[in-house]
Amino acid sequence: MPAYAFLEVHPARFGMLPQSVPLHFKRPLSFVIRGFQHIPAGSTSRYVKCKKSVPMEALSTTRPKTLQNPFSSGQWGSVIDDLPSSLLDCVGNTPLVTLNQISTRNDITVLGKLEMQNPGGSIKDRTAASLLKSGIRKGLINPGTKIVETSSGNLGIGLAQACCQLGLSLTIVLDTRTNQNVIKLVELYGATVEMVSETRDGETLLDARLRRVRELAESDPQVYWPNQYENPANPAAHSATMREIIQQTQGQFDRLYIATSTCGTLAGCRAHLKRLSINPQLVAVDGMGSAIFQSEDDTSMIESHLPGHGSSRHSNFLNADDVDEVAMVSDRDCVEGCHFLLQQEGILAGGTSGGIVSAFRKDEPSLPEGSTVVLLLCDRGERYLDTIYDEEWVRKTLPFS
Ligand SMILES: Cc1ncc(COP(=O)(O)O)c(C=O)c1O
Repeated sequence: MPAYAFLEVHPARFGMLPQSVPLHFKRPLSFVIRGFQHIPAGSTSRYVKCKKSVPMEALSTTRPKTLQNPFSSGQWGSVIDDLPSSLLDCVGNTPLVTLNQISTRNDITVLGKLEMQNPGGSIKDRTAASLLKSGIRKGLINPGTKIVETSSGNLGIGLAQACCQLGLSLTIVLDTRTNQNVIKLVELYGATVEMVSETRDGETLLDARLRRVRELAESDPQVYWPNQYENPANPAAHSATMREIIQQTQGQFDRLYIATSTCGTLAGCRAHLKRLSINPQLVAVDGMGSAIFQSEDDTSMIESHLPGHGSSRHSNFLNADDVDEVAMVSDRDCVEGCHFLLQQEGILAGGTSGGIVSAFRKDEPSLPEGSTVVLLLCDRGERYLDTIYDEEWVRKTLPFS
């Protein structure tokens, strides 16, 4: 079957001019070009025949492994090669920092994985990149493909940024609970927003969003729905998340807190740990009223005012033994955890990070001496200036119960 492959070409490395490469690039960058190329049946996606005589290895998608210091080596060319070739290559490899002030105990270590430092501001950038790369690899995404997906916010932003970069059309189906900043951001990246506000009998807003995505997918053969709820590329994205944490801690951690929605993060982290036979405790942090760990009949999750964690449906990725403990957090827990994290550590994070901080603080007194705990801090706080970090919003929306 003919297919399209997504290519990276590094003319600086191979001494070529961008014009000499007969690919249909969306836009040439200064030294690196990315684009789609039609590949005849039987070819691999790493090497592609070009009409003009271009060195075959020029089309390799492999990147040099070692970063050279320009001042010591004097080789500017190789330094340029070692730069990420686009924003998509900046997803992941987030820092792990010691949270020195968050615990009153000095016999435990608390570490924060700063997922907000992904280019789109959240852990869902990893999911977005993985869903798109997998679709491209399988030949399901081609230059004219229209991507359609639903999101409560962060995946939408991650996809919008990546699709803008790849030159792909994107429609994101959101619902009326979506933060206005998210809508603005998704649109700024050039995506179309479809807003769902009405549900049919017995439907949750998520059901209504999924129904609309299905309608869009069925109405146009050019549409590709990555389907973050069922696509194995979602959990697969988090092999890298887990690999990084293992490298950063040298495998020395006892407990990891993960917020849950599709449970792609949790399932992907657990799968990687299982492959390595490492068995730290995984704590799932879920929203009160969420159906992930209880009956789907309970739709009180609709009452939640914060996006990110929680869901009105079970996860397709989760096995019963993936989770050691479940911590259910309220919106107020999330807000209090966010403010505590900000005051103690100067980290401005989103609601799920606040929920994780609150869940950790509840467990803190009973953690064994010498424990090392990792908190997955999932998104940036700037998007929540009008909610979590707005006193009046908190007072009006989350009265003390
Ligand atoms: C900020 C944030 N944290 C956590 C999650 C949950 O991730 P997952 O869908 O992998 O369970 C999401 C999902 O959208 C999110 O936006």
